[in-house]
Amino acid sequence: MTRLVDLRSDTVTQPTAAMREAMASAPVGDDGYGEDPTVNTLEARVAALLGKEAAVFVPSGVMANQMAMRVLTHPGDVVVAGANQHVVDFEMGASARNASIQFALVDDTSGRLDLDRVVEIVGAEADHRAHVGAVAVENTHMPSGGTPWALDDLEALARAVDRPIHLDGARLFNAVVATGVSAAAYAAPVTTVMVCLSKGLAAPVGSLLAGPKDLMDRARVERKRLGGAMRQAGVLAAAGLVALDTMVERLAEDHARARRLADLVAGTFPESGYDPASCRTNIVVFTHPDARALVGALAERGVLAGTLAARRVRLVTHVGVSDDDLEHVAGVFDDLARR
Ligand SMILES: Cc1ncc(COP(=O)(O)O)c(C=O)c1O
Repeated sequence: MTRLVDLRSDTVTQPTAAMREAMASAPVGDDGYGEDPTVNTLEARVAALLGKEAAVFVPSGVMANQMAMRVLTHPGDVVVAGANQHVVDFEMGASARNASIQFALVDDTSGRLDLDRVVEIVGAEADHRAHVGAVAVENTHMPSGGTPWALDDLEALARAVDRPIHLDGARLFNAVVATGVSAAAYAAPVTTVMVCLSKGLAAPVGSLLAGPKDLMDRARVERKRLGGAMRQAGVLAAAGLVALDTMVERLAEDHARARRLADLVAGTFPESGYDPASCRTNIVVFTHPDARALVGALAERGVLAGTLAARRVRLVTHVGVSDDDLEHVAGVFDDLARR
């Protein structure tokens, strides 16, 4: 059988044996009544980890982002966000449909938002522009190649705008491991924060939205409206608890392997202008004149990659990718370079 190395996303990760065991033996109850002890434990643990009053367990990161949009804004509001962020560009227009908001887009090529531009947009209210209900940021910032925010930049943003900030932390733990900044420190300047357990942490399902208690009470109502209230969800929360116990520190291995991939990309595709030093977590995003053709050629050789756009290729490392797999990828890149 041909070897397959799956670099499409860290969402392809499989639950570990310890997760499956914890799922099988988890105490559960009806979370609709707030009676699932495992869900309650996970929510309390994540709230504490993020230094927030409360957290709500949801099936997906998209749902958590959408609940945040609904509780932080009113219909017709503007949300300032990076043009390439997930909540803007990868949620099928959900924020327009679910929260009736419009985005004011800021350049986020570098992974951070231009502070002056954000301040300008918020200030434009004085010139008869729509009310800015919130600012949304993403950490790590996926489309720029998993860039972690500098805590100083996030704190400066929070000081400069008197609006709630929502942090999409689908890969917040990657940022924590890459920078040494704690999850609570990253969450302190923002009002709401979403974290995913189902990406690099390898749980099968689950994200949480955390924030002040009154907002999280309202978020629970929005979860219900979106159809995301679950019942004996402790079977899923149990895997999430194991993910937090066992899968955070090892993200450093994914980062080291991504750096190896980054070097391979820079060596094989010098015309992409890709700087391997820009790879700080588990994602490599680079420019190629025909991204889809390249992804097709890689797939024929057993390396699965993804595209973000017609000229943007994405490679993601995760627990299912070994050093040996990377040697296989190196061979495939070599083969492509010689053609
Ligand atoms: C940055 C970011 N935010 C949110 C999400 C949404 O998470 P989910 O797939 O669990 O809905 C993703 C998914 O990959 C993501 O990369």
